[in-house]
Amino acid sequence: MARRPRTAKKLAQRIELSYFQRPQPLRRWRFILSVAFPALALLWLAVAGLSKNRTPYSMGAVSAPHALFGQKCSACHVADTVSFRHPVTDQACLACHDGPIHHADQEFTPSCSSCHVEHQGRIRLTAVRDVSCTQCHANLSTRFGAPHFVRTVLSFARHPEFAPLRADFKDPGTIKFNHSVHLVAGLIGPGGRHVQIACDDCHRPGTPRGSWPYGAPGVENITFSGGAQYASQQVATPSSFHPTTAMQERAELAYMAPPTYANTCFSCHALQFDARFPDSVPHDKPEIVHAFLVENFQKYIAAHPGAVREPAALPRLPGQPVVQNVHAVTREEWITEQVATAEDLLWRKTCAECHALNFSGGNSLPAIAPSRIATHWLPHANFSHDAHRMVTCVSCHASVASSQLTSEVNLPSVRVCQECHAARASAAPAGCFECHTYHDWSQEKVYPGKFSLRDLLKSSRNVVAQPPVAELIRR
Ligand code: HEC
Ligand code: HEC
Ligand code: HEC
Ligand code: HEC
Ligand code: HEC
Ligand code: HEC
Ligand code: HEC
Ligand code: HEC
Ligand code: HEC
Ligand code: HEC
Repeated sequence: MARRPRTAKKLAQRIELSYFQRPQPLRRWRFILSVAFPALALLWLAVAGLSKNRTPYSMGAVSAPHALFGQKCSACHVADTVSFRHPVTDQACLACHDGPIHHADQEFTPSCSSCHVEHQGRIRLTAVRDVSCTQCHANLSTRFGAPHFVRTVLSFARHPEFAPLRADFKDPGTIKFNHSVHLVAGLIGPGGRHVQIACDDCHRPGTPRGSWPYGAPGVENITFSGGAQYASQQVATPSSFHPTTAMQERAELAYMAPPTYANTCFSCHALQFDARFPDSVPHDKPEIVHAFLVENFQKYIAAHPGAVREPAALPRLPGQPVVQNVHAVTREEWITEQVATAEDLLWRKTCAECHALNFSGGNSLPAIAPSRIATHWLPHANFSHDAHRMVTCVSCHASVASSQLTSEVNLPSVRVCQECHAARASAAPAGCFECHTYHDWSQEKVYPGKFSLRDLLKSSRNVVAQPPVAELIRR
């Protein structure tokens, strides 16, 4: 079959010459829209401009604490007359609040906005990314000399072991205490009863709740006001651990108060000195104990003049012979002798069971070493027992049950924390800022406010999603 020839004329006949004259809905809309959109945008800008609404130029809502003046771009963006840009400066932030530096010996100071990222909506401004910290801590160096701290911290998953759990660290406490002896079932308690002692019979946070089962009568409501006792000499080095007010308020519940004799040892370890006296000596300085003994023996001899011929009635163990040394004549000699006998028992045995006594210095009375029971073991991080109430004490302090010496450290290893704090969705948070403070708030300067109410409020008139003023004040 022969092919039909394709001539130019035949092809031209196929083209509709009136195409562009005929009205077409699609094209018309394209035209209308291409004019209408810029017009609308200009109108929006004009209306926004007239009403001082700066949202059109912004990248996204500012954080909640700054939302009040989110429209006042110039509060943070300072016009730079040379580049015609409006960069964010640290000075702009410092007009309202301080952000004191981390350490005097840091090699450079990152800008505020490199850590506190804005225009991300209502995020936590203080939730800074790890890279804000690891920019220095991946390979720490300082302006003066070698760093005092581990040089490489890359993430919490690869976090170094805590200092008190590294080699050669000893509990500085001087009270002799053996956890394993006391934690057994059937321990002999007050009045010979068999008891099972629990951690919170001795360890409670700053504000104790309830009464102390082994405390002296009337000590139920003693609160701990002794201040922080640090375990580590390392604290002498610069530290950024300076709690903010909110942390201080919670600090009462965060750390355990040191156990005291009156709250936790009293009813099992009485300080008896002589079987003729029902009372114990006061748990106090040897000078006060001495004065107490002298006064009590004076009263006794006044009431029992015949007692000058009685021997000292020491509390003694069954099977021990009764000491007989009857020779005293005057009351004064009798008192001196009785006091000396009682003190010999107290200093060598009763007090020495728990204390290190120092007889040096030419004093007739011993000195008791300061107890130094630490309340803050990890001063370079924040920790809260209250936030971990859901787990048993021994899940973190596993070694306590077998611990025999005060010098042992029974704190949890970083591995225990890593079981829960990890960069997984189903885990507790593991960002550096969760546990550490960056700013050294002890150096904080307070600046007087420089904006008027009009300055701040008028510019944000048009913002819809403002938190109520009451909420801002609460923050
Ligand atoms: C509370 C302080 C604050 C306010 C108020 C604020 N910004 Fe920002 N803005 C920032 C910070 C911080 C950055 C990040 C700057 C950086 O990366 O150095 C930023 C970045 C920007 C950027 C990206 C360009 C750049 O400079 O990096 C634009 C655009 C911007 N802001 C616009 C606005 C506009 C428009 C307003 C007013 C509606 C506004 N901002 C209000 C803090 C603020
Ligand atoms: C006009 C005053 C003003 C300016 C400018 C300002 N802030 Fe704030 N900022 C506040 C107020 C008010 C609060 C809430 C009260 C507080 O925590 O002190 C706040 C809170 C914060 C918080 C704590 C947020 C929280 O969740 O607790 C951070 C972080 C912060 N600002 C960083 C910055 C940074 C970085 C800049 C500079 C880009 C800046 N601010 C600029 C007034 C200002
Ligand atoms: C290396 C990152 C980093 C830099 C740089 C930084 N901050 Fe912070 N900022 C933090 C972290 C982490 C927190 C939360 C823990 C704390 O209080 O240190 C915080 C907390 C704050 C708070 C909240 C305090 C509160 O009441 O809870 C303010 C306000 C603040 N910074 C302001 C500033 C200012 C102003 C600057 C700049 C001069 C600045 N920050 C620079 C990391 C940084
Ligand atoms: C500009 C560098 C730099 C940045 C950024 C930085 N650090 Fe540091 N950091 C240092 C220096 C320097 C020291 C002190 C070293 C010394 O004195 O030996 C230090 C010490 C520390 C210490 C131990 C002492 C202390 O203050 O308690 C901790 C914990 C710490 N930084 C955590 C952080 C966290 C968390 C961040 C991020 C929010 C951060 N650092 C960001 C430089 C930095
Ligand atoms: C009869 C009172 C008593 C009981 C019960 C008791 N403790 Fe203690 N605990 C003390 C005394 C006193 C100290 C201080 C002396 C020392 O460091 O051993 C102490 C110190 C500690 C310390 C800090 C020093 C160290 O050894 O690391 C931890 C942690 C601790 N106890 C955990 C526990 C846990 C967990 C339990 C329960 C399983 C418990 N304790 C039960 C009296 C008690
Ligand atoms: C069963 C154990 C125990 C016995 C026995 C004991 N103490 Fe204590 N003592 C403690 C504990 C625990 C502390 C620390 C907390 C406190 O103040 O109760 C302490 C603290 C002290 C302090 C204060 C030390 C400081 O930190 O400055 C003095 C003084 C003291 N005891 C004197 C004595 C004297 C004197 C005796 C004997 C008469 C004695 N204690 C017997 C457990 C005991
Ligand atoms: C529920 C009664 C009870 C309480 C409370 C108690 N103890 Fe004891 N403690 C005992 C008994 C019983 C023994 C003798 C255990 C043994 O030798 O098997 C003992 C023994 C000791 C010893 C000698 C330990 C050894 O290694 O043999 C010391 C030191 C001691 N307690 C200190 C304390 C201190 C300090 C407190 C308060 C923080 C305290 N105890 C609270 C019942 C108690
Ligand atoms: C999530 C782990 C965890 C749990 C659960 C836990 N602790 Fe601790 N504990 C710690 C850490 C971490 C420290 C060191 C805190 C510091 O001083 O910096 C500590 C310290 C202590 C101290 C020394 C004083 C102090 O506060 O620093 C005592 C005593 C103590 N814990 C007792 C207990 C008792 C009792 C329980 C149960 C009611 C308990 N802990 C539950 C982790 C834990
Ligand atoms: C879950 C809590 C937690 C997280 C998350 C965490 N740390 Fe720590 N960090 C601690 C504790 C607790 C210590 C012990 C503090 C002490 O010894 O006083 C510590 C110690 C440190 C030290 C001092 C080390 C030494 O002993 O010389 C540095 C530096 C440090 N952390 C940096 C970081 C950095 C950077 C990050 C983020 C990558 C981070 N940490 C994340 C809890 C945490
Ligand atoms: C049983 C799991 C578990 C273990 C083990 C654990 N944590 Fe936590 N931790 C949590 C949870 C859950 C929270 C609450 C998280 C939140 O508030 O978003 C938390 C909160 C915290 C906080 C914030 C406290 C506050 O007041 O907001 C710090 C700091 C912290 N943990 C440190 C530690 C350290 C240090 C260890 C190891 C000694 C540890 N955690 C071990 C589960 C755990």
